[in-house]
Amino acid sequence: MAPAERTIRVSTSTAWRDSYSVGIRELDNQHRRLLDLINELDELVADQQESASKTKCYAALNALVKYAESHFITEEGYLQKYAFPKYDLHKTEHDSFVEKVFAMNQKLEKGDPYSLFEIVRFLKDWYKSHILGIDQGYKEFLAEKGAQAE
Ligand SMILES: [Fe+2]
Ligand SMILES: [Fe+2]
Repeated sequence: MAPAERTIRVSTSTAWRDSYSVGIRELDNQHRRLLDLINELDELVADQQESASKTKCYAALNALVKYAESHFITEEGYLQKYAFPKYDLHKTEHDSFVEKVFAMNQKLEKGDPYSLFEIVRFLKDWYKSHILGIDQGYKEFLAEKGAQAE
């Protein structure tokens, strides 16, 4: 292979760890799937060379947001059922995530070439701060309530 054809790929994927658990299997499985979807989008964006592959990125982003929204409904269901005191704040965080992604998507539709990278960076940061941060805030509470899968 000629040197010019070689490409160096640095994997930025994050793998699921047991320490990420919130103690409810159903929510853990959804969090794991969300991480997979973010990693898949990350790969697609990194591989993107032709504008045709943008369609794939759009599809992956859409699937991710839809999955996130259905996850939020499940998670909010648990928090409501067990009367989590910070429920309103948590729901606001979910709503603002969806709004932000839609706003970024609008930028993308306007043809900003950097937006896809921006979106992936945002999603990774969000995963760390929300799923591995804020979501951990209900772990102990639900455990004390003896919360079980629906
Ligand atoms: Fe969550
Ligand atoms: Fe959450």
